[in-house]
Amino acid sequence: MDKAGRDTIRFLLGHEPRALAGADPTQTVLEYLRGTEGLRGTKEGCAEGDCGACTVVLGTEGPDGVAYKAVNACILFVPALDGKQLITVEHLRGSDGSLHPVQRTMVDLHGSQCGFCTPGFVMSLFALYHAHDCTDGTLDRAEIDRALAGNLCRCTGYRPIIAAAAQACAGPAADAFSVAQGSVLARLAAMRAPEMLTLEFDGRRFYAPTTVDQLADLFTRYPKAVILAGGTDVGLWVTKQHRSLDVVISLEAVAGLSNVEQTDTHLRIGAGASYEAALDVLGAAYPDMGALIRRIGARQVRNRGTIGGNVANGSPIGDTMPALIALGALVVLRQGGEQRSLALEDLYLDYRRTAMQPGEFVERIDVPLPRPGVRFAAYKVSKRPEQDISAVCAGFRLELEDSRVRDIRIGLGGVAATPLRAVSVEAVLKGNAWSEATVRAGMAEMDRAIAPISDMRSTAAYRSVIARNLLHKFFLETTPHAARTRLEVPA
Ligand SMILES: Cc1cc2nc3c(=O)[nH]c(=O)nc-3n(C[C@H](O)[C@H](O)[C@H](O)COP(=O)(O)OP(=O)(O)OC[C@H]3O[C@@H](n4cnc5c(N)ncnc54)[C@H](O)[C@@H]3O)c2cc1C
Ligand code: FES
Ligand code: FES
Repeated sequence: MDKAGRDTIRFLLGHEPRALAGADPTQTVLEYLRGTEGLRGTKEGCAEGDCGACTVVLGTEGPDGVAYKAVNACILFVPALDGKQLITVEHLRGSDGSLHPVQRTMVDLHGSQCGFCTPGFVMSLFALYHAHDCTDGTLDRAEIDRALAGNLCRCTGYRPIIAAAAQACAGPAADAFSVAQGSVLARLAAMRAPEMLTLEFDGRRFYAPTTVDQLADLFTRYPKAVILAGGTDVGLWVTKQHRSLDVVISLEAVAGLSNVEQTDTHLRIGAGASYEAALDVLGAAYPDMGALIRRIGARQVRNRGTIGGNVANGSPIGDTMPALIALGALVVLRQGGEQRSLALEDLYLDYRRTAMQPGEFVERIDVPLPRPGVRFAAYKVSKRPEQDISAVCAGFRLELEDSRVRDIRIGLGGVAATPLRAVSVEAVLKGNAWSEATVRAGMAEMDRAIAPISDMRSTAAYRSVIARNLLHKFFLETTPHAARTRLEVPA
C-alpha cells in the first residue's frame, strides 16, 4: 500500500457504517451486496448497465441536503462507495415493518408481476421521490419517463408503474430518509478523510487521488494505469470482457475536477463532471446539447458517466463529440505539470487512438458560449430514444452574414473510424448563399468526407443517407420551412 494513503473504504450501508479494508477494487457493488452482505433484493439482469434490475441509490452531500442518485450497481466498483450512503431496496422498509410510500403504491397499483425488475424500479422511484419537490401534487410525465427509462420490465407493460410513480412521487418527500438527512450528512462528513484511498489486492492497485496534482503525479508514475471516471465504459471491461485491471486511478475524489464553470467566453466542463451535473448548464446554453445528453443511456448511466470519459474513450459512436466538435470545443490535457489544449477533432488520430501521450489525461473540456445569431443543432439517430447507441450522430454550427455562410462547423459520429469534423463539406458551404443549391452541393460532398461501415446498428448505405439528410434537416431548421422536422420528444 502507498504510505501516504489509507486502505479502508468507509460508507453507510443504509444507516449502518461499513469499513471495508483490503477490498478488491474492481469488485462490483452488486457482487458485494449479494455475495458479501447477503442482500439479494438487488438483482442482476444484464450486468452491463442496460436493464436497471441492479439499481441502487447513492446518497451524497448535495446543495439542499442529501442528494439521492440512482446508479447501476452491476458496473459500479466498490471504492466508489467511499464517503457515500448506499441505499438498497432492503433499506426502504420502515422500522415498524411498513413499506416505503413508493413500495406501497407499486403494490396498490399492481406495478409488479414476476417481480424481478421491481427492486430496481423501486429504487429509481425512491430517487425520483426525493428529487422531485412539487407541492401541488402533480408530476410531469416526461420527468417520470426520464426517471424510469433505465429500468426494463417484461411483464407489466409499464402503465401501472408509471401510475405508481405519478401517485407516489408527486409532492414533497416525507419519509424516514428525509427526517434522517441531518444525521446522515454529519456521519458522511465524519467519514471524510484527507488521505488518498489506496488499495492493493491480489497484485492489483487502486488509487483515488484527491488533487489534480496528485492525479498527474500518479499517472506519470503509472502511465499504463486505467483512469476511472464514472466507469460506465470501464465497468463493462470487467463484467463483460473479464479484464483484470492492474492499476486503476480513479477521478472520484479529485477536488475541483467535477466542477462545471462559466468564464466570459467558455463553459468549462471538468473531466469528472457527470452528464447529469453538466446537463443544466450545457442545456441552457445550447438546448440541443441538453436534448442530446438526455438521450445518452438512461438516468443511472448519466448519473455516473462523464463527458470527459466519452471524449477520452474516443469511440466513433460516442455521442457528445460530434456536437462538441461542431461547437468548437477544446480539450484541455494535462501531463505532469504541463497543460495543453487541442481542438477536440485533433484528439482523434485513428480508431480508438488519440493524441494523448502516456501519462496524459483529460482535465476539462472548454465549450465556447453561444453568440448572438449563431445557430446550432445536434441530432442523434438511433432505433430507440433512450438506452441506445446511435447509428449516426451529428452537430452543426452556422454563422450567416447577409444570408451567406460566414462560418459552418460540422461534427459527425458513426460515419468513420473516429469522431469526425467534415472539413471538406464545410469548405463547399462556406462563403456561399445558405440555399437549397448550396446545401445539395454539401450533401454531395458528404459521401467523399465520410467512410461509414455496416454493423449491427445500421448499414453503411443507411449511415451515408442519414449524414446527408441531417445536413438538409439543419438547413430546413435554419430557414423558413413548412416541413415538420422533429418528433415532439418532451424536453
Ligand atoms: C447502458 C449504457 C448506455 C450507454 N449509452 C451511451 C450513449 O447513449 N451514448 C454514448 O456516447 N455513450 C453511451 N454509453 C457509454 C458511456 O456511458 C459513455 O462513453 C460515458 O461518457 C463514459 O464516461 P465514464 O465517465 O463512465 O468513463 P469511464 O468508463 O470511467 O472511462 C472511459 C474511458 O475513458 C478513459 N478516461 C476517463 N476519463 C478520463 C480522463 N479524464 N482522462 C483520460 N482518460 C479518461 C478511461 O480510462 C476509459 O478508457 C453507455 C454506456 C452504458 C453502460
Ligand atoms: S444488471 Fe442490468 S443494469 Fe445492472
Ligand atoms: S414484473 Fe416481471 S419483469 Fe417486471
